[in-house]
Amino acid sequence: MTSRFSQFYKKSLEERQKIIKEYSNLSAEESALLNKEGSLSLETANHMIENVIGTLSFPLGLATNFSINGRDYVVPMALEEPSVVAAASNAAKLSCGFKAVTDESIMVGQIQLVNPEDPQKAKETVDKNKKQLIEKANSRDSILINLGGGVKDIETRILETERGKMLIVELFVDVKDAMGANAVNSFCETIKEKLIELTNTKARARIITNLCIARMVKAEATWKKEVIGEETIEAILDAYAFAQADQFRATTHNKGIMNGIDAVALATGQDFRAIEAAAHSYASFEKKYSSLTTYEKDSEGNLVGKISLPLAVGIVGGATKTNPVAQTALKILGIKSTQELAMVMACVGLANNFAALRALSTEGIQKGHMKLHARNMAINAGAEKKQVDETAEKMIKENNISVSHAKEILEGMK
Ligand code: MEV
Repeated sequence: MTSRFSQFYKKSLEERQKIIKEYSNLSAEESALLNKEGSLSLETANHMIENVIGTLSFPLGLATNFSINGRDYVVPMALEEPSVVAAASNAAKLSCGFKAVTDESIMVGQIQLVNPEDPQKAKETVDKNKKQLIEKANSRDSILINLGGGVKDIETRILETERGKMLIVELFVDVKDAMGANAVNSFCETIKEKLIELTNTKARARIITNLCIARMVKAEATWKKEVIGEETIEAILDAYAFAQADQFRATTHNKGIMNGIDAVALATGQDFRAIEAAAHSYASFEKKYSSLTTYEKDSEGNLVGKISLPLAVGIVGGATKTNPVAQTALKILGIKSTQELAMVMACVGLANNFAALRALSTEGIQKGHMKLHARNMAINAGAEKKQVDETAEKMIKENNISVSHAKEILEGMK
């Protein structure tokens, strides 16, 4: 059967579900799952993306114990991986609290101008007309401009590429409480024609850069030696040194940071792909790919962890508005601005990183994972609610955690 479903996007949701049921030979039970509504209604989902056939749920948990800049937060986290929420909560509990700072919400849009006859002259022309271009961009009637946001500056650079020199025009936009992609891309479009006219070039890409280094967030926390122990501090410093020196380890180290950041991003309706792209790109920005966190001992021998990364989040527009759970998650967090949200996310990332390094360099990561993993296996094997814990415990005791062994245990219970 062909996957070229004719006019699939024009079909109703029910028609699409019917088509996929036949195409993939879905059972009645499987296709009923597609029709099941959660907090995100099928109707809303159908307006959010194309070719919708259903919605997908994730567990939503709460990380506790976070004190940031003297304020307490409970942090909604959405993800499928066991131990992450517990690890963040525990790391926060063991810490003396977090301190965090952020930049303003400045995002950058790039306009690629190709085939300039005289690149230097084209650059100078744009530079000379900067004020006029900013005015033109900001002449758009938008809520953002009314809030005091908009294009604040324009920079240009000549880029050597395999297809010749190009002129890259960069718009620095204050996006206030938005993530900013829509606003920035629109501003780029607004001045495209003017740039072509000024430089006699062709405009190709006009798009935000996700490497938003003008939107940095920094956070730090101290873990006292009396609380976590001197040997643990040495172990964490060794684990950190490994990540700092080795790209293979740094990738996983940063993955652990993103466990926390992405989970808050998903819970609050953020563009987590943009966040991921920015974080990993920044990890190798003007240097070898390395850790997004640093660790050192303070003068008293306590452990100080720091994180620094670009983070573009929004509390207006996008999925934060359309997904009702994201709204509730933001309310639970009680944050007032995107800056505050970014600070919370950075602290959670640091907490998850601390927890991972502590576990990895001391008792190992598997021990903590085991219980939840075993419970998952038991559920997958068909355990009823009251059988889950007993099955999981047996598997851990017998050091054999798998669906097939869970099935054997369940058989034995009958
Ligand atoms: C697993 O999701 C995350 C860790 O691998 C992070 C790390 O190795 O630092 C435990």
